[in-house]
Amino acid sequence: MRTAEIGQRFLTFFEERGHDVVPSASLLYNDPTLLFVNAGMVPFKNYLMGVEPAPWQRATSIQKCVRTLDIDEVGRTTRHGTFFQMLGNFSFGDYFKTDAIEWAWELVTGPTSEGGLGFDPAKIWVTVLGPGFHPDYPDGDVEARRTWLKVGVPAEHIQGRSLADNYWHMGVPGPGGPCSEIYVDRGPQFGPDGGPEADEDRYMEIWNLVFMQNERGEGIGKGNFEIVGELPKKNIDTGLGIERVACILQGVDNVYETDLLRPVIDVAEELTGATYGDKASQEDNIRFRVVADHSRTGMMLILDGVTPGNEGRGYILRRLLRRIIRSAKLLGAKGATMERFMNTVMDTMTPSYPEIADNRERILRVAINEEKAFLKTLESGTKLFDEAVDDLRSTHRAKTQKVLSGDKAFELHDTYGFPIDLTLEMAQEAGLDVDMEGFNAAMGEQRRRAKADNQAKKHGHTDLSLYRDWV
Ligand code: SER
Repeated sequence: MRTAEIGQRFLTFFEERGHDVVPSASLLYNDPTLLFVNAGMVPFKNYLMGVEPAPWQRATSIQKCVRTLDIDEVGRTTRHGTFFQMLGNFSFGDYFKTDAIEWAWELVTGPTSEGGLGFDPAKIWVTVLGPGFHPDYPDGDVEARRTWLKVGVPAEHIQGRSLADNYWHMGVPGPGGPCSEIYVDRGPQFGPDGGPEADEDRYMEIWNLVFMQNERGEGIGKGNFEIVGELPKKNIDTGLGIERVACILQGVDNVYETDLLRPVIDVAEELTGATYGDKASQEDNIRFRVVADHSRTGMMLILDGVTPGNEGRGYILRRLLRRIIRSAKLLGAKGATMERFMNTVMDTMTPSYPEIADNRERILRVAINEEKAFLKTLESGTKLFDEAVDDLRSTHRAKTQKVLSGDKAFELHDTYGFPIDLTLEMAQEAGLDVDMEGFNAAMGEQRRRAKADNQAKKHGHTDLSLYRDWV
């Protein structure tokens, strides 16, 4: 089943059950606590928290999300993507736990001929808040467990887990509640028996149902907090990862090989001459997946108005684009690749996001300009980096000194435009550390100089010492 169809089935299912279909918010949704929208509930936060009355009692959406905290995991696991689409159904003080569970079960296991996703019920596992983790839930989430048993999940496929896994809150006092996660068993070739508690690669989480019913009080960390009371209005917030469902339903091993990303891997094979798959090295396969994942995330960020820069959102985009370029180069690409990658990912994403069609030229221009600028510096910077590494290896220091100096890292940044993350990655590949203290000191010194310079310019004080030497 194609990804777009999974999304359509989800929306139709909940629309038929009285939900309003709400379009995805921009990735740059106005929320001062976030760089990018990172969950389907973000645009509904004020309604869920009771700050504003919700315009609907029930809503459903496909929300585009970006999470870049796990950027180093991309391509290494089967399920980490920096961009994903979260399907959700939301109740604002309307239906609650029983309906949310019964509907989730119906959609997940319903036959495809009747609008369901067609998963084999025998492969489904669920988790609920277990007993003994919070004084307010001495027996765990009894109601959720009872409902899962009622719909037909066998007791041995229901696992009770701790607050860190199965209690959702926003990390601060406010609404919260137990949650229940739905997993699909992908088979013994992906890992050991024992349910999600034993292995989360074999048992892949597809859907999180949050039962927002408590007011969370003070406390620190994921699992150490008070519950102050029950919320006057209970809410439902769910999130289903469309990429993971697509991965399982399309019978591919990981989220990078689904219909929306695999075409980018194919183009990367063509442009680099390298081959993806079982016969390739693990490092090369990771590079292919980085190219696919980051091409899509980069494209979607540019679509929503981000441009490459040195800070905040712009820096994240720059880092993604530069990782694509470097990965393609390491796979063997000789020249520019960005245009083909961007065109391919725009083709796969346009059916779900038709606005891409009107922005194609702009997206290409931004990505290609970044590539041009970076390719120029990459070559000379890499030369400098390699020389520094050779120097470290060839001298007597090699045995003791495995650290690239802060000055070199600064030179790469300042003269060659290497983001420090790139230097750190290259150093890690070469088995070296980077003297970050030295690097930060050099950066601090540069900032101080720039400030003094600005100040001098403001006051019209030009530094004349250079001329003084001549007179
Ligand atoms: N807020 C929950 C999550 O992010 C459910 O959508 O998993």
